[in-house]
Amino acid sequence: MAKLIINGGAKLEGELSIHGAKNAALPVFAAALLTEEPVIIYNWPAISDVYNMLSILEHIGAHVAYEKDKLVIDTRRALRWEMPDKLAKEIRSSIFMMGPILARFRMARFTYPGGCEIGSRPIDLHLRGLKNLGVNVTEAGGHIMCEGRRLKGGDVHLDYPSVGATENLMMAAALAPGNTAIRNAAREPEIAELQDVLNQMGSDVKGAGSSTILIEGKGKLRGFSYTCIPDRIVAGTFMVAAVVTNGKITLKNVIPEHLFAITAKLREAGAQIKVYDDAITVIGQGRPKEMHLIETGPYPGFPTDMQAQMCTAAAIAKGTSIIVESVFDNRFKHVGELLRMGANIVIKNNVAVIKGVERLHGAEVKSMDLRGGAALVLAGLCAQGKTVVEQARIIDRGYETLESELSLLGADIRRED
Ligand code: EPZ
Repeated sequence: MAKLIINGGAKLEGELSIHGAKNAALPVFAAALLTEEPVIIYNWPAISDVYNMLSILEHIGAHVAYEKDKLVIDTRRALRWEMPDKLAKEIRSSIFMMGPILARFRMARFTYPGGCEIGSRPIDLHLRGLKNLGVNVTEAGGHIMCEGRRLKGGDVHLDYPSVGATENLMMAAALAPGNTAIRNAAREPEIAELQDVLNQMGSDVKGAGSSTILIEGKGKLRGFSYTCIPDRIVAGTFMVAAVVTNGKITLKNVIPEHLFAITAKLREAGAQIKVYDDAITVIGQGRPKEMHLIETGPYPGFPTDMQAQMCTAAAIAKGTSIIVESVFDNRFKHVGELLRMGANIVIKNNVAVIKGVERLHGAEVKSMDLRGGAALVLAGLCAQGKTVVEQARIIDRGYETLESELSLLGADIRRED
């Protein structure tokens, strides 16, 4: 299993350009199933979650051409509406295929994607929403059978503004006759990206970014070309790297608006942050200050995908910080590993009380999930001595060559496969 070996202490300095967003690319790949014309994706992130998703598309019969700076996906010959159990279980994001597969074939058969390292990950909101659109959903033996001959527009109210459920239902509604309203919809930037793509395909979708999304279903949709927006979580991770190493990093090709919550919290921690049109510079100001309260929530609240990285910043802060994880039910697995590095953290239910220490010390730690693994790398960068982060392949799910980028910024980090 790959591991990252880090000798902490270097101040990270320099600049880097942020790669395309995983969570924007994945639903857009799924949208390729809504048309029989080829689609072109630029600035796609070369990360394992993306390659896995593309293998699912190929499995159901699509053709994917990897060209220098773009992907061409042609789903003309897609013919399978059954998602193989192995793929569905391995790749949580396969759930984004349910809506498009159903809209395309009027049939879909999935197994439960199952929980993952950060929680139970139910799909009840997806299924209930599809039922509101006239889909007949039956569940038997761990499999979900969706029959959509009577797929039609309808009114959906989400109990929770689920990103995946919002995206799935937008894509199902795009080819459903009639009008659909999705209320209490997710407001993440990736939803607006999907709306733009669907409208480029000839759909009529409005309201992304607000809590109500209106879709007028169409009979047929065109191909599209899309350039992935920069990954706001990858950007946030490098912002924290500048703070915990007391360095100075300029991130190019970012959308500052997507980083406002992170910028606000890191300023509270004492960082100096300069914001430009499509770049941001983060300058550490010595040991971070405590952050009184960080509570994760739906966008534009503080992103749950940055919670683990903020635990690392809080672990070395002057004073005590409180971090509340209000999105997922089991997303503090990195805390046990930070404790091995000398952190002083108490977890009570979904609350972490973090009393900052002067310095963490290196240790052998394990990535339990994607963002938790990134948090441990950040901890290794500022710890005294050597840190070995095991199961590094988990980090490759969401970060392109993290160790190479960090090395270019001055980190003493290498990978051992
Ligand atoms: C997306 O996951 C992201 N993944 C996650 O990023 C991100 O953490 C999450 O949104 C929240 O922002 C992708 O976009 C590929 P949700 P998703 O449905 O859609 C509950 C990363 O590290 N829920 O918004 O699965 C759920 O259990 C990943 O890049 C239900 O109860 O998240 C959770 O508590 C991790 N029933 C909450 O809603 C449902 O049917 C938010 O989940 C669906 C969700």
